[in-house]
Amino acid sequence: MFHKETYQKRRERLSNDLESGLILMLGNNYVGMNYAANTYPFRQDSNFLYFFGLDKAGLAAIIDVDNNNTILFGHNPTIDDIVWEGQVPGINDLAASCGVEHTEDSSTLSTLINKALKAGQKVHFLPPYRNANIIRLADLLGQPVESIKTGASIPLIHAVAAQRSIKSQEEIKEMTEAVNITRAMHIAVMQGAKAGVKEAELAGLAQQIAYAQGNGLAYPVILSKDGQTLHNHYHGNILQEGQLVLGDFGAQNSMCYAGDITRTCPVSSTFTAVQKSIYEIVLKAEVDAINACKAGVKYKDVHLDAAKIISAGLKDLGLMKGNVDEAVAAGAHALFFPHGLGHHIGLDVHDMEDLGEQYIGYDEETQRSDQFGTKYLRLGKRLEKGNVITVEPGIYFIPELIDKWYGEGMHKDFINYDALESFKNFGGIRIEDNILINDTDSTILGDPIPKTISEIESL
Ligand code: GLY
Ligand code: MN
Repeated sequence: MFHKETYQKRRERLSNDLESGLILMLGNNYVGMNYAANTYPFRQDSNFLYFFGLDKAGLAAIIDVDNNNTILFGHNPTIDDIVWEGQVPGINDLAASCGVEHTEDSSTLSTLINKALKAGQKVHFLPPYRNANIIRLADLLGQPVESIKTGASIPLIHAVAAQRSIKSQEEIKEMTEAVNITRAMHIAVMQGAKAGVKEAELAGLAQQIAYAQGNGLAYPVILSKDGQTLHNHYHGNILQEGQLVLGDFGAQNSMCYAGDITRTCPVSSTFTAVQKSIYEIVLKAEVDAINACKAGVKYKDVHLDAAKIISAGLKDLGLMKGNVDEAVAAGAHALFFPHGLGHHIGLDVHDMEDLGEQYIGYDEETQRSDQFGTKYLRLGKRLEKGNVITVEPGIYFIPELIDKWYGEGMHKDFINYDALESFKNFGGIRIEDNILINDTDSTILGDPIPKTISEIESL
């Protein structure tokens, strides 16, 4: 974890931003896979990690803004805990490591919250996403589950987002490490992609590196010859000459910071001419988007410019037609690029998505589109110095979507449906990097990962 002062400063700023009330933060607990004691790998709540740095199950905390007091709640290990899990730090040691002076046994949390409610204190909490914490909050606050789901504190969401959106130098260092582990995963997978290899072998290779060099995966591996399925978790195919493999996966490092990188490579040692022509369009969209990113630029505009590059490239290949600006305004590009250009990344792969994308990715100036494709853009608002985001354009040929649009006569002024028939087995290409936003430009995190056609072919 970072030095305790980092967490003290973050909590101090949070208290100042809130001005009044009491902030209740619940850490995560173990979740049973098939019975309680056989658990999924533990993942701490990212907000709890951000403000307390404690990567341990069964913790909670209150930051009493009115009385300038922070308390960490937990248990000291019992002899049984020590027998099964070894010596683990007690609650006082955990509190000291993140600069909290007061501790209580978890059993007292309910009494303290009751006291605060009786005294008329506002209890702020963030939107819970695990059922166990929804039920716990409902119990602690004496409210029905439904009102917990909708009752999160908007001022707390804004205050947390304001801090977590801007990454500090020490966070950038951790994120760079996460990307470099992710880089090793991608290089190994691209080198291992050849005819006769099962997708599952490559997915296993990526995971082996993530666990050996870091703290496992930041999200489940997406790896498939069928890259047109955006989040394809099926790894049962055996790769064949002439196919493409799309790999979208990333490690989390020991501090739980995420990498999220995508590369697409040929199974054969070279791309075919058609694959090259589509690849070059996606690469141009990605590189130009990265070059356009800097503080003050609206990410929605960068997204729409990427859509125009994709549409212009597909028009050159005879797959689209008509005026490119009009095609993008109408949403015709979404047949090929049906997702957003990128999102915040940090402790979460889609950073702070639990807080609500309307607060993280949009604001009064920039509203979310309701048009198919652009509506999936998770981040539209102006970029700020210190944001870390993904840039991940793609071109996909989704037979079911092509047939549906054709059947409905969708955007027939902009799409050459006849020319698309031969692309229905193409799959998809996505290229993704993680970038830091600076005042006048952006920086790709980590060491370079092969990305041009010649770099990938020489792997
Ligand atoms: N890495 C998957 C995504 O960004 O949705
Ligand atoms: Mn991503």
